[in-house]
Order: sequence, then C-alpha cells, then structure tokens
Amino acid sequence: MLRGNNIPKAEGKLGILLPGMGAVTTTFIAGVESVRKGLHTPVGSLTQLGTIRLGKRTEDKSPKINDFVSLAGLKDIVFGGWDIFEEDMYSAAKNSGVLKNEDLEPIKDFLSAIKPMKAVFDKNYIKNIEGSWVKEAESKYELGEALRQDIRDFKEKNDLDRIVIVWAASTEAYIKSGDVHASLDSFEKGLKESDPDIAPSMIYAWAALKEGVPFANGAPNLTTDIPALYELAEKEKVPISGKDFKTGQTFIKTIIAPGLKARLLGLHGWFSTNILGNRDGEVLDDPASFKTKEESKLSVLEYILQPDKHPELYKDFYHKVRINYYPPRGDDKEGWDSIDIFGWMGYPMQIKIDFLCRDSILAAPIVLDLALFMDLAKRAGMSGIQEWLSFYYKSPLTAPGLYPEHDLFIQQAKLKNTLRYMMEEEQITHLGIEYYENE
Ligand SMILES: NC(=O)c1ccc[n+]([C@@H]2O[C@H](COP(=O)([O-])OP(=O)(O)OC[C@H]3O[C@@H](n4cnc5c(N)ncnc54)[C@H](O)[C@@H]3O)[C@@H](O)[C@H]2O)c1
Repeated sequence: MLRGNNIPKAEGKLGILLPGMGAVTTTFIAGVESVRKGLHTPVGSLTQLGTIRLGKRTEDKSPKINDFVSLAGLKDIVFGGWDIFEEDMYSAAKNSGVLKNEDLEPIKDFLSAIKPMKAVFDKNYIKNIEGSWVKEAESKYELGEALRQDIRDFKEKNDLDRIVIVWAASTEAYIKSGDVHASLDSFEKGLKESDPDIAPSMIYAWAALKEGVPFANGAPNLTTDIPALYELAEKEKVPISGKDFKTGQTFIKTIIAPGLKARLLGLHGWFSTNILGNRDGEVLDDPASFKTKEESKLSVLEYILQPDKHPELYKDFYHKVRINYYPPRGDDKEGWDSIDIFGWMGYPMQIKIDFLCRDSILAAPIVLDLALFMDLAKRAGMSGIQEWLSFYYKSPLTAPGLYPEHDLFIQQAKLKNTLRYMMEEEQITHLGIEYYENE
C-alpha cells in the first residue's frame, strides 16, 4: 500500500458507472449535478462536508477530508451505467418520484443526455420486474466480455483516467456461496457453462475486476462476497466493498443498539417494520429478494449486542424485520421500530421510533462517498476487501474469520483512522491522559 505523498493525486476524469439506474442512481446523479451548478449543498456526504481531526485537541487542526486526502473533484466526474429499461436519467428520475420538478427542470438537459447501456439480466434472480433493454449472448462468459467492452468504450469515449462501479440495481434472489463460487477457476468455468448459480451482479463484478475497476455493492446480494471474486480482486489488485447501503432503519439501529449495549441495558425484543412503495419495495415484495434483504438487516443486532458475552441481557431477544410494499408512499418510506428493553432490577421500558425517511435521499451521498473513497483506495494500491468502508454498509464485507463491526461510531473511527494512516498521521485513540499529566 502507498502512503502520504506517494499516493497518486486524483488527476483527470473519474467515470462512475452504475448498474441499476433507478431511484438511488438518478437521485445521486441529479444531486451531484445540482451541487456542481451551485443549486444545492451536498448534505450527508462525508467526502464533501466532513472534517478530520489531526493531532491533539489543543492544536485545533481539523482540515476538510477532501483537503486532507486527494479525492476526485465533483467537476471531474462523468456518469454512466446499465439498466433493463431504456429510459434516460431525466425520465427515470421523473418515474422514480423522488425529486420535485423544480429540482429536475434546471438540469433536464444534463439528465436527458445520460442513457443506460443494455443490462445483463436474469429473470431467475429478480422476479417482480421485466425489461427489454437486455444483452443477449451465447454464455454468461460472453455477457461478461460484453460488459468489459462497455467499460472500455465508456472510458475511451469520455477520455477518462479512472473508473469505479457502484451497484445500485435491484436486490437479487437469495443464494448461498457454493462450489461454482469457491475459486476463480471454478467461477470462470461456470461463466462459460452459464452456471445458474452465477447471478448477474457477479458477472458485472467479474467484468469490473478484470478491467481493474473497483466495485462497491449497494445491495445485499452476494456479488463480490464469494471466494472466487476475492481471489480475482487480489490478483488484479482491485478494491471491493459491500454490501447493502446502510440508510434508513438499519442506520438508526446501529446508532441506538450500541448505546443500549454501552449502558448494559437489556433487550427483550426489537420489532422493525417498513412500509414503502417504490420499485425497490416492489422487488422486495418477492420472498426470494426479501430473504436476501432480511439476512442483511437481521444480523446487525447479534453482532452489536454479543449475546454470547452477555446472556443475562441479550440471550433470547426477539428480532423481527418486515418490509411491506405499500404503493401510496412511493419513495417516502416509513420505518417503525418498537423496542422492548429492561433496566435495573429487570424493570421493562419501551422505545418507539418512527423514521419518516426518504431512502434515495439517504443513499445518494453514500454512493458519492463510496465512489470517491474506492477510487482513492485504488490509487493507494489497496486491494480486496475495504473494511474501512463498513461505515456505509448494512452487511460489511470482512476478511474470512473476522466478524463485522456494525457500530456506526466504531465504523466512523475506523474510516477516519484509515485516512490518517494513509496520510502518515498519528492515530487518534481518544485516550487523552496527556492533557492531565503534569510532568
Ligand atoms: N435507497 C436505499 O436507501 C437503499 C439502501 C440500501 C440498499 N439499497 C439497494 O439499492 C438498490 C437500488 O435501489 P433503488 O431504490 O434505486 O431501486 P430501483 O428499483 O429504483 O432501481 C433499481 C434499478 O435496477 C434496475 N435493474 C435491475 N436488475 C438489473 C440488472 N441486472 N442490470 C442493470 N439494472 C438492473 C431496475 O430496472 C431499476 O431501474 C436496491 O437493490 C436496493 O435494495 C437501497
């Protein structure tokens, strides 16, 4: 890994390619363009608004993150992607119903000019939608080669220096890692034989890694989370990260649960339900896609609360997550949490959270940060799983044998300490004893 001034600067243009150009993608692109035009502030983006403390508290040194590390500037970003629907980003944004006309009209021409490339799609992995803007080829291997060609063409056409890919397509049906995913050899053989256990997202990821392009996975599908693609990422020296953007309910859960655990308050049960009416909700109405999402959402409490270490507090807590497709709400999700806790002498208490959130509004800055940080990681020569980006994910990828960190504030400390490490600055431990020692 390169550090400090040895990390090449983010010069030239960065392409951000997004498989899946629906609500999240259009909101992300529209937001970046609005910020470039000075119409909005990039609220929610650590790379744009965040600062990082360096040295002692008495030094009062907290530069902006994008002054501290070299990140691509917003003006240098070029957008593209793939979808199973042919509509351009203006029509797609209108259909997604996230942004108001008054926010779309000033950037209409820009959005209308961005059109998806034909997707790699497999009905077996996403049941509730069907599109016709889809590639056809003899085998999954050929589909992967076609995606590689798309990446190369996009780079050449736009005169780009670097590319990153962020998966923002629908959640695929739940599958487990199996024999075909066990090694790069078996995976590539599987591609040639069009093995049914190779999901479209894996074909995109394979194509990205073969092209040396970092791949971030915003959905809970396995995608790069298989030995074959870990192997390829290491072989090609490309960063990967995932899975599943941590936005609404899980974002709140990973703030509240560490607090309860820190104060050693017990938990009887945590019931989480969501109502949402966008296309994501429609896809998640299919039990196979919901299963993928459920796995991703359920695991966080177990890891944060560590019931094995605190059986008296957390042994048998009941955790339920529901997603209900409710069209009238569109992209405006409502996430309810009803939490039954107990305190001193076992006395019960309740916490109720009703988060009236906007999914894509929360996800868009995450897409931006991930794209810029993944590009930084690549320039710094970091390859394979980027655990320091766990901050952004519901199911962070970790090295085999390591449990993931879900606590949002541990994740934030990990991210910032990684940036300090990259730039050869001292780690901040928050010990602080030096301020009170007199000699
Ligand atoms: N919005 C959030 O807060 C949030 C949080 C975590 C994860 N996610 C995940 O992000 C993804 C995108 O969410 P969204 O709200 O934008 O959904 P969306 O349904 O609006 O957009 C997804 C798009 O992907 C397209 N698509 C499906 N399969 C494809 C394929 N194989 N190749 C290319 N395109 C394909 C669909 O046609 C659609 O346009 C979903 O998987 C969702 O679960 C979203």
